[in-house]
Amino acid sequence: MAQVTLSNIKKSYGAVALFDGVDLEIDAGEFVVFVGPSGSGKSTLLRMIAGLESVTDGVIEIEGRDVTYDEPSDRGIAMVFQNYALYPHMDVYGNIAFNLRLAKMPKSEVHERVMEAARILHLDELLDRSPAQLSGGQRQRVAIGRAIVRKPKVFLFDEPLSNLDAALRTQMRLEIETLHREIGATMIYVTHDQTEAMTLADRIVALDYGQVQQIGTPDDLYNAPTNKFVAGFIGSPKINFLAATVLSTDGDTIEAKVDGLEDTRITLTATGLHEGDKIDLGIRPEELHIADAGAPQDTVLRLSGTVEIADRLGNITYAYVNAGLDKNLTVQTFQKRKIQTDTQVNLTVPANRIDVFNTQGNRCSPAKP
Ligand SMILES: Nc1ncnc2c1ncn2[C@@H]1O[C@H](COP(=O)(O)OP(=O)(O)OP(=O)(O)O)[C@@H](O)[C@H]1O
Ligand SMILES: [Mg+2]
Repeated sequence: MAQVTLSNIKKSYGAVALFDGVDLEIDAGEFVVFVGPSGSGKSTLLRMIAGLESVTDGVIEIEGRDVTYDEPSDRGIAMVFQNYALYPHMDVYGNIAFNLRLAKMPKSEVHERVMEAARILHLDELLDRSPAQLSGGQRQRVAIGRAIVRKPKVFLFDEPLSNLDAALRTQMRLEIETLHREIGATMIYVTHDQTEAMTLADRIVALDYGQVQQIGTPDDLYNAPTNKFVAGFIGSPKINFLAATVLSTDGDTIEAKVDGLEDTRITLTATGLHEGDKIDLGIRPEELHIADAGAPQDTVLRLSGTVEIADRLGNITYAYVNAGLDKNLTVQTFQKRKIQTDTQVNLTVPANRIDVFNTQGNRCSPAKP
């Protein structure tokens, strides 16, 4: 039995429809991340699960029980927000214990739960500090501690790390992963940061303006994106899109050419296309190889251009190559050989590492091997 089930969830604000029928099943213990750009509806979807936002239509079940119209406090969930408000006049212990004391839980059990949360979150030494005496990351851990002690069936997180600096975000991300492993609870986590989504999720729900674009594992979304939106949103640095035209088709084989470039005929596998169709080729930065010569023309797309910028990050170099297209190509390489700016490079990419997107933006090539 799924832990959380959304069936045909709809949400409108006045005349404006945001969600038009979302279906989602989340298993017990699963870590699901809602990811998408600002305004895509991540918080709204999460808040509907929490009961902080009404649904226009549809059913929400938690552990098989219809909670669609239940109060938040009756749903067995706990939520951690981006702007966690701690009580400034209470110490860490008091903040973590607050809801339990409010619920008149026996003192000994409150103590047991607070100490357990403090151990998991490494707050043992800080229990008598006030929030003002804590760092941002420590305060965020207190906010998570407040959620843990309630022993919810489901944890809901809405961008809990976005107020933290980059280093702290990475550290807290690891701590949330550890927390999930340790307590094994179901977690639903909202972020606009694709790195957080890729690293934390068992499954990702990619949203774009109220539309669920794809639900799958991080690998699914990275290697087999359903459309240009997902391909462009997941992956850092971003995938390269090259506008191209179908020259001819033969069953599921097409011959295509990159628009605006000579000598870029390439044979690809893709379905449902016709001669003259405008398509996009999606090529991840790590699929572009800096080449000398050699590979047979019809299995490899060849490009060449000038390195405009070479960013060296120690083991990895990102080169931004002007190949005569409207945007520079991003190339990722581990090669020790130095890539110099203002030099000419030849690039190759195997045909079977290229995603083909049709005019509607949907992937029409097979999943990459
Ligand atoms: N009370 C409301 N009335 C009308 N429209 C609303 C209301 N609340 C949210 N919206 C709209 O619903 C859409 C989704 O909002 P939501 O807050 O869920 O986005 P989000 O993905 O969480 O964005 P962010 O990353 O900026 O937090 C937005 O376009 C927003 O303007
Ligand atoms: Mg939001």
